[in-house]
Amino acid sequence: MSLATLKNDVFLRALSRQPVPYTPVWLMRQAGRYLPEYNATRSRAGSFMGLAQNPAYAAEVTLQPLERYPLDAAILFSDILTVPHAMGLGLEFRAGEGPHFDRPVREERDVDALTVPDMESLRYVFDAVSLIRRELDGRVPLIGFAGSPWTVACYMVEGKGSSDYRLIKSMLYGRPDLLHRILRINAQATADYLNAQIDAGAQAVMLFDSWGGVLADGLFQQFSLAYTRQVVASLKRENEGRRVPVIVFTKGGGLWLEDIAACGADAVGLDWTVNLAQARRRVSDSVALQGNLDPMSLFGGGPAIRAEARRVIDAYGQVGQGGHVFNLGHGISQFTPPEAVAELVDEVHGYSRAFHAV
Ligand code: CP3
Repeated sequence: MSLATLKNDVFLRALSRQPVPYTPVWLMRQAGRYLPEYNATRSRAGSFMGLAQNPAYAAEVTLQPLERYPLDAAILFSDILTVPHAMGLGLEFRAGEGPHFDRPVREERDVDALTVPDMESLRYVFDAVSLIRRELDGRVPLIGFAGSPWTVACYMVEGKGSSDYRLIKSMLYGRPDLLHRILRINAQATADYLNAQIDAGAQAVMLFDSWGGVLADGLFQQFSLAYTRQVVASLKRENEGRRVPVIVFTKGGGLWLEDIAACGADAVGLDWTVNLAQARRRVSDSVALQGNLDPMSLFGGGPAIRAEARRVIDAYGQVGQGGHVFNLGHGISQFTPPEAVAELVDEVHGYSRAFHAV
């Protein structure tokens, strides 16, 4: 079946640093618990994995934020932990506790047993991508995503979220060979996974390196960025006659921006600790930048939200040969009032027009 032509390609053009009439905007975790309609679908599905593994439900929640706000991209509803789940680690999302693995990877024998999963076991994700593309009907592009090899390894070794990363750092410092073996497998799995999403219809892909920023300088480059670079180098960069741009987001990665910008990605995501004018100078417009509003600013009320959005757009400045995709500096909080997002999107679209020559 042939797909509708894209009606709004502002997001894809901005990622490729081509002229656009306004700054495109989407939000990390835009489909999620701050939306009552998401919570309603999730309770029908019974659990987070019940939602993510059912393509019809996944498509439904992916489209929910687009029904409310004129966002410039959709992001596949799924999770970065589907890949280790497919490796047989036994993923469960516990209420109020977040993700949990029944069989974490801690000992040498656990690493010996680890393999790149058969992508057939992730068919539900690729089916969701195809279904979302059909239901989007060309409205906006669809972003596919995966976790970075390092960030996914954090969950595989810790078995759940962590505040100090003691278990994975014990492995990093004590048995770096084991961690490198895990990261090699994750890099291959992630490349296969993203390429299958692209084949199914993802029009851009993003790597979430949410925990790269917990690493020491030098070790970030060795244990996170080197494997991200391998993934990026293995990706298909064209599909349906169009470039498939790659975005790399390392939370807390501002200090390493030059290194990250050289990893082969089209765009770098930034958290709110970074000044976009300085970031732009540091990368000499060699990549587009995505970000970087503090998600907590959405709790400040309409005038404050609009003022903070303008500050981000002012910092990036006249777009010229650059490319800016407006986003938050991390995922939207589940407590965000839905009206706050309407204020934000409206301000970004209106205020940014003066920063684009066309
Ligand atoms: O952006 C989107 O709208 C797409 C969906 C998406 C989810 N997770 C859905 C989700 C994306 C892109 C992710 C990525 C993800 N998942 C990351 C990287 C981005 C980041 O936030 O740093 C990470 C680290 C995970 C792992 C994960 N998944 C955690 C730690 C949690 C629990 C945290 C929490 O907020 O409770 C999840 C669960 C999860 N993934 C939810 C959603 C909407 C909330 C769970 C629910 O509905 O019960």
